[in-house]
Amino acid sequence: MDDGLTRREILAASAVALAVPATLANATPGTAATPEPRRRERLTNWRFHLGHAADVEKDFGFGRDQRTFAKAGQAAEAAAPKFDDSGWDEVVVPHDWAVALPFAAGSPVKGSDRGAAHGFKAIGREFPQNSIGWYRTPIEVTASDKGRRIWLEFDGVFRDAIIFVNGYDVAREESGYAPFGVRIDDFLDYGGGPNVVTVRADATLGEGWFYEGAGIYRHVDLVRADRLHVPQWGTFVRSELGPDGALVHFATDVLNSRDVPASGSLHQSLIGPDGEVAAVLPSMSFQLPPGQQRTLEQQTLLRAPRLWSLDQRNLYRLRSEIYEADRLVDSTDTRFGVRTIYFDAERGFFLNGKPVKLLGTANHHDHAGVGTAIPDALHRWRVARLQEMGSNAWRSAHNPPATALLDACDELGMLMVCEQRINSSSDEAVSQLERMIRRDRNHPSVILWSLGNEEPHQATERGARINAELQEHVRQLDPTRPTTFAMDQGWDNGVGRVVDVLGFNYRTNQIEAYHERHHAQPVIGTETGSTVATRGEYANDPARHVLRAYDTEHPWWATTAEEWWTIVSDRPYIAGGFVWTGFDYRGEPTPFDSLPSISSQFGILDTCGFPKDNYFYYRAWWRPDQPLVHLLPHWNWPGREGQPVEVWAHGNTDEVDLRLNGRSLGRKRMPRNRHLVWNVAYAPGRLEAVGFNDGRAVARDVRETTGPARSVELTVDRRTAKAGEVVIANAAVVDSRGRTVPTADNLLRFAASGGRVIGVGNGNPNSLEPDAASDRRAFNGLAQAIVRVGRGPVEISVSGAGLASSGLRIVGL
Ligand code: GAL
Repeated sequence: MDDGLTRREILAASAVALAVPATLANATPGTAATPEPRRRERLTNWRFHLGHAADVEKDFGFGRDQRTFAKAGQAAEAAAPKFDDSGWDEVVVPHDWAVALPFAAGSPVKGSDRGAAHGFKAIGREFPQNSIGWYRTPIEVTASDKGRRIWLEFDGVFRDAIIFVNGYDVAREESGYAPFGVRIDDFLDYGGGPNVVTVRADATLGEGWFYEGAGIYRHVDLVRADRLHVPQWGTFVRSELGPDGALVHFATDVLNSRDVPASGSLHQSLIGPDGEVAAVLPSMSFQLPPGQQRTLEQQTLLRAPRLWSLDQRNLYRLRSEIYEADRLVDSTDTRFGVRTIYFDAERGFFLNGKPVKLLGTANHHDHAGVGTAIPDALHRWRVARLQEMGSNAWRSAHNPPATALLDACDELGMLMVCEQRINSSSDEAVSQLERMIRRDRNHPSVILWSLGNEEPHQATERGARINAELQEHVRQLDPTRPTTFAMDQGWDNGVGRVVDVLGFNYRTNQIEAYHERHHAQPVIGTETGSTVATRGEYANDPARHVLRAYDTEHPWWATTAEEWWTIVSDRPYIAGGFVWTGFDYRGEPTPFDSLPSISSQFGILDTCGFPKDNYFYYRAWWRPDQPLVHLLPHWNWPGREGQPVEVWAHGNTDEVDLRLNGRSLGRKRMPRNRHLVWNVAYAPGRLEAVGFNDGRAVARDVRETTGPARSVELTVDRRTAKAGEVVIANAAVVDSRGRTVPTADNLLRFAASGGRVIGVGNGNPNSLEPDAASDRRAFNGLAQAIVRVGRGPVEISVSGAGLASSGLRIVGL
């Protein structure tokens, strides 16, 4: 998907210096997944104003006395189509305004308010001027749109959103995470406009105990369709595998939103992973009274289905077309995969009938530089980092994921646990659950619906009642996937007696006794190991809020990587586990809950996705077929000559020989699922580990004492990208021989001519440098920039005082 350029960037990249109307800038060629007559546009270009909620006069008249409701179409000045927003910032959605806010000391008590828990951003009750954001975008509407159904699809706005169209207050959505649709056709001007969508988001209140961002941080689409159409999330495809092939069921909603009866026919076909038509279903005729919706059900047998699996991500598309006589009035495509899933209480998880251990991580959804506004390419990049480590499953904690992340999981082969934010059977919470399930149930990557996490009522009869009700809704909406709940106590009671797959948060060593008591209950570790570590640091230093990156430090409620994995790996009845967490995230700075700590240190990778040493523990044992040794710490310890240094090797070879400056310090056998330790008297030079299988050297890792920083080297995740997409640019400070200087903290400057640096980071959990910038200090040798690509080639460069700079070119596609 196109991530968009600001209007200014489009102009800069355009040979013709003519203003491009925002409506055109918003049109995303090629994203219309289905042909006319339905049209889908992604609204990427908006004007943004950080509001003044403290002063109602300045909040564009919104909420002043009864004015919002007094007269139709005059809800707020800023919602009026002719309101002059030329002074507002141009932004590209996904957009998180919180990430650009300054840091401010709040309550130091973890979880108590927006301070520490939310990463100390100056947002929330104490900072009303930073907590309201207004967005506006014009949309192009023509006379030919009159009479059509037109709606907006929001994938997530943080939070308490009010949607206005041409001054009308048309919808409110309190959830910061649930997707929602808003019908807008009644409010449009079909006689030449202007037509303007305005969104007011209010992030004064948080929903979680972690950084949550603010604003329109996920995609927004504008959809135009005939009044006789398949409504949003109106299709559901599921399949059963049998000896003759895959029996695929289709349930397709058809809505007649005209004021007269409609009769027509639904024509559906399947397009296979190769792009060829795989099946044409018999057409189904229907008659619908005005305002009525009906679900039309069909099934077909695919005799030789191409299954979706972790290695073969075969994706089919259902094309649903509505005809009136022989006129095509609506067409929509639904992507799906044919696969089966099953949890067995003794043997764990099965995909397509084969056991798959869930090698998972739980993750929040923010990244360095961009906060929660993660561009599509960055979602893919994050999934790929975890896959390289051997991970095959992701728990979206503690809220529904972005559609773009699910698409990436479908395409790359990562299993997903989708989680509801509010564990309640209130109408509002059920509506949020329903919307998540309707939106996500066609994604083959999704294997579980998680109803909640460590809720105080988890072990009670009331908790059981509430979750039984929720589970009933799940069964109605999706009978193919089980439910889970992440419990941290009381597993024998309450919700533990309701959900299909029991989730253990930590206490992995209690699972065995639980299994003895409940042989028929499938179990997973919803949160398992939680080593806290600072990337590239090898001594605890509480004064600096720094934690050694050996696999030794963990909060009292959690264990190290090695402790949980040695339990889970050998017990087939534990279907797998999710490390808390894959990536560091802003907020919950544990165990240092005061400034300058602004991020958690639980991640296997830091907030930039740079691996900490534990990454290689998992990589070793989650990909045992790929020989690996990894050495820690680095080997730059000036002044510590002759003193002992604790050297670890992670790895999976039978034996590892450690050599210092060519001299063996002893060959040791690597115990399965563990690591090796040597105490080495420090001498500068070359520390090398050689891994042997059957006496043959098959893997090697080297730490060398580097010289001083001489230059900075740039790498990018790819050399070609479409306009509007991002590339991930990593910088390493290196010595004269190209070796990363593991302690370098030089100030680096990123530049992108023909593109834009949209954010920077370095993975330091204690850095108060701005993310929305192009300068960043290296942290232990590394820094990162997220760069949005323009229409032509982009020259990305990185430089630093006294360092030779480097650059490279990204070619536009
Ligand atoms: C868990 C909780 C997570 C996170 C974690 C920190 O109890 O589910 O969201 O707070 O603790 O260790």
